[in-house]
Amino acid sequence: MFITFEGPEGSGKTTQFQRVVAALQAVGVDVLATREPGGTLIGEQVRDILLNRPEGAAMAPEAEALLFSAARAQHVREVIRPALAAGRTVLCDRFYDSTLAYQGYGHGLDLTALRQITTFATGGLRPDITIYLDCPPEVGLGRKQSQAELNRLDRLALDFHRRVYAGYQAMMQQEPERWVAVDATPGPDEVFARIVAALRLRGLRL
Ligand code: TMP
Repeated sequence: MFITFEGPEGSGKTTQFQRVVAALQAVGVDVLATREPGGTLIGEQVRDILLNRPEGAAMAPEAEALLFSAARAQHVREVIRPALAAGRTVLCDRFYDSTLAYQGYGHGLDLTALRQITTFATGGLRPDITIYLDCPPEVGLGRKQSQAELNRLDRLALDFHRRVYAGYQAMMQQEPERWVAVDATPGPDEVFARIVAALRLRGLRL
């Protein structure tokens, strides 16, 4: 079983991811928990290029998409596929849907090209279940930043996150059987309870 977690900024995705990993391990499921971009030595180096770029060093969205995809190619071959082949349950914090949402819907790169690049990078591997933490950009960004910072956030940044959010909604509609959307606006315990209930419905033992 291959389960991915997706969500916009400030949705609490990583907290929930860690709680689900712990809950599965507590009932004896052999879990491999990993994240993108990263999960391998090469991937962590790529993550560093992507997330810690020097102030003022703008990256072309095309370069961004290819770097995320390069990290993903390494991750799939070195970590995810071997774990799945060994019968482990793999949980991954972000996967290719993030590239489609951020670089595709957010930055406006061609979605057909991105899907081809993604298939090349993953060798066609797809998640069995994708947990989506549904949180509107105003709420998510507000959780991450003070109100003063949020007011200063330029329109372009907010518009970008709105496109990302709309992109996730569109992808869920295209493939409703894979996605499990959970409202991420209640408190963390309530969100966690809803994720657990959804995973049980999908046959997971936890
Ligand atoms: P996060 O998972 O801690 O939220 O941070 C990862 C950041 O990288 C987040 O802003 C989304 C972004 N990202 C992309 O833009 N494209 C991708 O393919 C991936 C995996 C992440």
